[in-house]
Amino acid sequence: MFLKMTKRSNITQAVTILRHGGLVAFPTETVYGLGADAKNEEAIRKVFKAKGRPYDHPLIVHIGKIEELNVWARDIPPLAMKLARVFWPGPLTLILKKQSQVPDILTGRQDTIGIRIPKHPVALSLLQAFGSGIAAPSANKFTHISPTTAAAVKEELGKEVGLILDGGECEVGLESTILNLSTLQPTILRPGMISAQALEEVMGVKVTSSRQDTPEPRVPGMHHLHYAPLTKALLIETKAIPQMVEQLQPQDLPAAFLIYSDLTLPQSNKMHWVRMPPNAFQYAHHLYHMLRTLDNQHYKVIFIESVPHNVEWEAIRDRLLRASGT
Ligand code: TXA
Ligand code: MG
Repeated sequence: MFLKMTKRSNITQAVTILRHGGLVAFPTETVYGLGADAKNEEAIRKVFKAKGRPYDHPLIVHIGKIEELNVWARDIPPLAMKLARVFWPGPLTLILKKQSQVPDILTGRQDTIGIRIPKHPVALSLLQAFGSGIAAPSANKFTHISPTTAAAVKEELGKEVGLILDGGECEVGLESTILNLSTLQPTILRPGMISAQALEEVMGVKVTSSRQDTPEPRVPGMHHLHYAPLTKALLIETKAIPQMVEQLQPQDLPAAFLIYSDLTLPQSNKMHWVRMPPNAFQYAHHLYHMLRTLDNQHYKVIFIESVPHNVEWEAIRDRLLRASGT
């Protein structure tokens, strides 16, 4: 059931479902989440089942106010408070030491917990009305593309979730930046639209990035082929595109091309050129929706123009590398 979020009663209904251990999909500014009461082990189990997600991939907890942080986390470093005051509500997840009463199933038995305050007004109203933490991974099947509209949630989990709160298109469009503050050295575990530089400026401390496949802490986003369309996707450098187009074989067609530069391209009914915005924030906003749309259209291949190697595009680059299994 879709509920437009103009009515207060819809939030009340969502809260009732959560209190009874049910699942509610809701919008955040990054992507839609599949929410459950973060203190209810049975409810959390339902989230893993609905997504088909392995139990050793922890969920993050969404809270409504900074003051709730110490219900979930302990030994909170001053740097975490500094970041929270600047970036929350917003697309930043902090990994902190967890409080002992946090259910093990939520954190994949790790001693740490991921937490954030989302910025979407619907998410904030829901959290405020619920009055406690909501565990929510992205509302997609494990390894699929995250949903950025209510319709996409329905496509992914329509059978598994009774209530989808419709809050329109997610503004950011990519999952939050994940920063590990549970160790001495702050480390980005998943890049997002809040960059390492932005975090460094606030913290006054160097941030490292871990794209390596270390087992701890486990981040599902680091899984090979996470965020992947089902159609074969290939990343290709701008200058290689014209020659590649000439050499396309019949078995590669029809093909779609995701282009953000001003490359001029030959027209053909077997090649679909999609113009993406040249601005990183706008590109991120549209990316998952576009990949999902193309994935539903029987192309043999989705060719994706490689994006700039700079900090603005880092999170997009990361997702494109994963989508193409690079
Ligand atoms: O933007 C987002 O973060 C979205 C919205 C719904 O908030 N959520 C999201 O959830 O992307 P999910 O489960 O798809 O990704 C959350 C990430 C996972 O990669 C998870 O492993 C990581 O947070 N995470 C959670 N707890 C962790 C922990 N204790 N240690 C390391 N990573 C953790
Ligand atoms: Mg996810």
